[in-house]
Amino acid sequence: MAGEKILIVDDEKLIRWSVRRQLEEWGYSAIEAESGTGGLAQVRADSPDLILLDVRLPDLSGVEVLREIKENNLATPVIMITGDPQLDDIKTAIKLGAIDFVKKPLDFDELQITLSNALDHSRLRSERDILRDEVRKRSGYHEVIGKSPRMVELMNFVRKVAESETSTVLIQGESGTGKDLVAKAIHYDSARAEKPFVAINCSAIPETLMEAELFGHERGAFTDAKAQKKGLFEVADGGTLFLDEIGELSTYLQAKLLRALEEQNIRRVGGVKDIAVDIRVIAASNRNLEQGVRQGTFRQDLFYRLSIIPIFIPPLRDRMEDVLPLVEFFIERYNFRFRKNVKGITPETRELLMEYQWPGNVRELKNAVERAMILEESECICPTYLPIQVTGQAQDFDSAVRVGIAESEEGDGSLMTGASSMWRVLPSGKMIPVLRLPNQGTSLEEVERVLVGLALRQSEGNQSQAAKLLDISRDALRYKMRKFGFEVEGED
Ligand SMILES: Nc1ncnc2c1ncn2[C@@H]1O[C@H](COP(=O)(O)OP(=O)(O)OP(=O)(O)O)[C@@H](O)[C@H]1O
Ligand SMILES: [Mg+2]
Repeated sequence: MAGEKILIVDDEKLIRWSVRRQLEEWGYSAIEAESGTGGLAQVRADSPDLILLDVRLPDLSGVEVLREIKENNLATPVIMITGDPQLDDIKTAIKLGAIDFVKKPLDFDELQITLSNALDHSRLRSERDILRDEVRKRSGYHEVIGKSPRMVELMNFVRKVAESETSTVLIQGESGTGKDLVAKAIHYDSARAEKPFVAINCSAIPETLMEAELFGHERGAFTDAKAQKKGLFEVADGGTLFLDEIGELSTYLQAKLLRALEEQNIRRVGGVKDIAVDIRVIAASNRNLEQGVRQGTFRQDLFYRLSIIPIFIPPLRDRMEDVLPLVEFFIERYNFRFRKNVKGITPETRELLMEYQWPGNVRELKNAVERAMILEESECICPTYLPIQVTGQAQDFDSAVRVGIAESEEGDGSLMTGASSMWRVLPSGKMIPVLRLPNQGTSLEEVERVLVGLALRQSEGNQSQAAKLLDISRDALRYKMRKFGFEVEGED
């Protein structure tokens, strides 16, 4: 397709000139840069649709430029141009995300094919992304992740439930196990997907309001009923009504709900006529409803009615195989949201995540990943940025060496170093990671950078305080901040 903007980054004027002429002849528009930095500036300024990048440039290497481009413009296809194709260069570049290679001297027929393939590929990709977003939007992002046998089985069951005609479903599970998510999955996988999914939390609303909310009211039904109002049963007609925390529903409303489910019709508050509704009710509870039945707080007949199709989502600690796939999923999601490029987690992080019991289930795991992604500056999530409750017991505690006393608001504690990290030991025995070294050794400068970052984080960006923490002058701190690329603005 014509018109796409192609950037040529090459220091040889003749090459730039001849390629440009060809590109324009093929109907593309072309822009040029003669150096790596120039190329990067053009990428920022002009956002080209494709980049032709020479491997050897006078200032930066093509691979460096490629890495830089991929950090910020992941989707832009890059084709490398190489004079003498070194296998290592090719491998590195492909790993970094270059889409293809062309050799010098350039064969223009080959170039034309390579170009149009690359552009097709990226067009397809963006169409696919758009499509995927569209599906996600419609489905409310209900992707349920789970590789454990229990979750695989559960999701197969959920799919069957979705396709069936059953009018009631009961989802039980601890807080954060994914009850909302599964309810949406059922709705959006069902024939009702085009109709509304309406959710209401039964614990949040007082009984009288709740009744009007669910069943609606006629004008004048009570003092505030200035006009007639449809209830959620009517609003969700043809779709799904999700009653969260059903255990909190008053016994009076439990009876009304049961009647509505059995008769498939409702009556507005203050109304006299029955209104037919076609609703699937999905109820959820993080408490044991059977216990409620035994204690008399939950109607047995309603419980039986709801639990014709019972779904129990096991706590995360009973399906630890799901932890890593979930982490991967959340990393991908937050990479997209925060425009980051985190590739994964370190082996130590993996161990900590697999050892923790996750009382808050998937929600807690998701929050932990989100927090770590915000703080992490390298490509892998290391234990330093995990919540304290997760890192509580340090892995290398046994081999740790005490190196000093740390003072903190939580009282004095020893500083210990393990093989690759430094921990603060609180009087309670809890260990908090304070510093970690990357796996392949590190330079003193890297340590400085980490320390400056930590001090700034601890002082919440207050430079005087951070300088005090590091025992250097504020000017020295500002110099280092500049050097390590921290934002220096915002004088305090
Ligand atoms: N299997 C899963 N795959 C992907 N995300 C999940 C999964 N399970 C839970 N989540 C995510 O974890 C968070 C908590 O899930 P959800 O709100 O569905 O839990 P819940 O069981 O309804 O909790 P509560 O009882 O507190 O209402 C949500 O952000 C949800 O998207
Ligand atoms: Mg919920």
